[in-house]
Amino acid sequence: MLEFVDRPDCPPPAAQEVLVDVRAIGVNRADVAFRSGHYLVQPSPPCGLGIEGAGVVRAVGAGVTRFTAGQRVCILPGFLQGGAYATYATAGLFPAASLIETPGGLDDRQAAALWVSALTAWGALVELARLAPGDFALISAASSSVGLAAIEVARAVGAIPIATTRNPAKVAELLAAGATEVVVGDHSAVAGPISDITGPAGLRIAFDPIAGRFAEALVPCMGEEGIIFIYGGLSDEPTRFDRRAMIAKGISLTGYMLGQVLRRPERLERGRGFVLDHLEKGTLTPRIDRSFPLASAAEAHRYMESNAQLGKIVLTV
Ligand SMILES: NC(=O)c1ccc[n+]([C@@H]2O[C@H](COP(=O)([O-])OP(=O)(O)OC[C@H]3O[C@@H](n4cnc5c(N)ncnc54)[C@H](OP(=O)(O)O)[C@@H]3O)[C@@H](O)[C@H]2O)c1
Repeated sequence: MLEFVDRPDCPPPAAQEVLVDVRAIGVNRADVAFRSGHYLVQPSPPCGLGIEGAGVVRAVGAGVTRFTAGQRVCILPGFLQGGAYATYATAGLFPAASLIETPGGLDDRQAAALWVSALTAWGALVELARLAPGDFALISAASSSVGLAAIEVARAVGAIPIATTRNPAKVAELLAAGATEVVVGDHSAVAGPISDITGPAGLRIAFDPIAGRFAEALVPCMGEEGIIFIYGGLSDEPTRFDRRAMIAKGISLTGYMLGQVLRRPERLERGRGFVLDHLEKGTLTPRIDRSFPLASAAEAHRYMESNAQLGKIVLTV
């Protein structure tokens, strides 16, 4: 259940904390999964919700030197969902280490829609997999906010993004968003068309938040020493990989979390540089599907669960 609670104004920020007037909130599948008890950690109500947002600094605590009152900032998930910090709020305290200055030229909604999707895609495709020009990259559930960012990141490094969706109505928009090919279907329908596209080279990487039988179906599509990133569990099914096929081609299977970028300052700095560079070139864009007022957060969650979206859902304050 989502419920709004009136709280007395926030206490002053403690050391290394920043008080932010929140202007926009990026809705992530993790919020929906946490609310419904399907996330990595279970909610213990009453607790807050939300890990991404944008706003304006109202005050800074002792030891905070990077931010000053009045500055526009983006809030990144440098804290646990449902813990001491939460972005579904009109104002909140956040660890200074979880904030980044808002890039020039972005409005608050765009600022709240940028970092989780762009850095999640960059971390796997560029930082870990070193995706190279001409590589085939499978982006499954490509209409998600992370999927759309992954299409742009793959294009930015000269790779060939192949998108998947279950919804034929999304094909034209995925092509317009930069996918070289779009494969439509569930686990039973995608392997043949993907292999027809890649030919014998196969996929260099599969970037998959679905898991279950969908991820299993990707194994025959992988190229020699290809990497399967599992970064979500949209299907909720058990995932059983064919070890013989994995061994025969030296395929790597890895779990992946944005935390692998956020917890390493030098990695975060490289990712920030990539994102800012491509924002400026226009080759990376925060894609907002729809906005809701914060008071309609429940409706925004229902909309996300409908899977009709193509890009980020944002709440505005
Ligand atoms: N590991 C990390 O650090 C990290 C960070 C960010 C996000 N994520 C994960 O990335 C995924 C996308 O997040 P998001 O917030 O960008 O999602 P989103 O905007 O809610 O998009 C989800 C899309 O996935 C597809 N989908 C939903 N359920 C599916 C199912 N059972 N089987 C196949 N496709 C399904 C739908 O597209 P179609 O209807 O077009 O198929 C839907 O539009 C989530 O699993 C999320 O938890 C992980």
